[in-house]
Amino acid sequence: RPILCVVGARPNFMKMAPILRALAAHRPSLPMLLVHTGQHYDASMSDQLFADLGLPEPDLNLEVGSGSHAVQTADVMKRFEPALDAHQPACVVVVGDVNSTLACTLVAVKRGVPVVHVEAGLRSFDRRMPEEINRVLTDQVADRLYTTERSAADNLAREGVDRERIVFVGNVMIDSLLASRPHARAPAATLAAHGLDAALVGDPRGYGVVTLHRPSNVDEPSTLRSILRALAEVATRLPLVFAMHPRTRANVERFGLGGLIDPRRIGILPPQGYLEMLGLMAGATAVLTDSGGLQEETTALGVPCLTLRENTERPITVEQGTNTLVGRDGAALLAGVDEILAGRGKTGRAPELWDGRAAERIAHDLWQWLQPAALAAAA
Ligand code: UD1
Repeated sequence: RPILCVVGARPNFMKMAPILRALAAHRPSLPMLLVHTGQHYDASMSDQLFADLGLPEPDLNLEVGSGSHAVQTADVMKRFEPALDAHQPACVVVVGDVNSTLACTLVAVKRGVPVVHVEAGLRSFDRRMPEEINRVLTDQVADRLYTTERSAADNLAREGVDRERIVFVGNVMIDSLLASRPHARAPAATLAAHGLDAALVGDPRGYGVVTLHRPSNVDEPSTLRSILRALAEVATRLPLVFAMHPRTRANVERFGLGGLIDPRRIGILPPQGYLEMLGLMAGATAVLTDSGGLQEETTALGVPCLTLRENTERPITVEQGTNTLVGRDGAALLAGVDEILAGRGKTGRAPELWDGRAAERIAHDLWQWLQPAALAAAA
């Protein structure tokens, strides 16, 4: 019976790519199926990343698209159930914390199919974040939980998850980063490809990279306005390259805030491919973001990261890595940038097991773990 692997949204793709490769290398005869829920569907949010990461075409695309949380989650569930029934997989592998992760988990457990969750146990302790709900619920019902940092096992234990189910393997997203680093695209080429002046990334102080997409930062006009004002202030000291998520772009237009962005100091790009983003981050003086993934990628790259959030579910990036939480306070953001420009940015160190081999550990453990289940099914 196949292993059914699920992806849905952009941050899932870089996590699943090394897992598929490691499973195929570990057991070449193991049947695998890749299901894309279609939560992200634009070429720039999906196809480009598949190509950059060497992901195979999905065997099945559920084409759910966008919607409210309820509609999107329900659509994934309704469309995933027949796929699960048709293929009778040995287990379902889900990654991360997006709506597709939870939706497919719920369907599988209720059909009695074991669920494997990669990147389990991360907690922001902020239940207003949709991802926190997805994480807590997925972990409660998943059968095998692979963690990226040691704090995750304590979070899970506190929620009553049996320690036997938890395995600390390291970070599959860093597997992708280390494998792709030599192929990263030069920042000047990325800017030029979008008709932006490559001089933006040639400033003697370097440049900063910005991403923003959390609903808590971009859905309220007053919040988005104050963040853009703070970025404009930062841009007087350090030119910025802003890879703008579709949600953010739509809100900047809807709230009429485009005038706050000075194109001579802030270059706006559409969502970037994986190799473009990697090149931009690796060459940056600082990264300013509210993404979860970028907090980890900058730690692995040793690039200072200022996170525009009050909390993080990835505390190791603050404790050992290059990450600093600045909240939504423009003054804290500016102070962080000034520290970095004064040469006092965090350099950090690579966390335990962020060594490019997490997916190998998963493949090895998953195979061992599936044996008794497969034998029981055959009996
Ligand atoms: C989702 C994840 C979030 C992740 C982010 C990365 C959930 C709850 N959220 O947020 O954890 O950090 O992906 O991007 O699962 N849109 C497009 N094209 C696309 C996809 C979306 O234009 O291909 C626009 C649509 O207007 C859509 C909006 O973006 O309504 C939001 O998309 P959605 O998938 O609901 O959530 P994200 O904000 O992308």
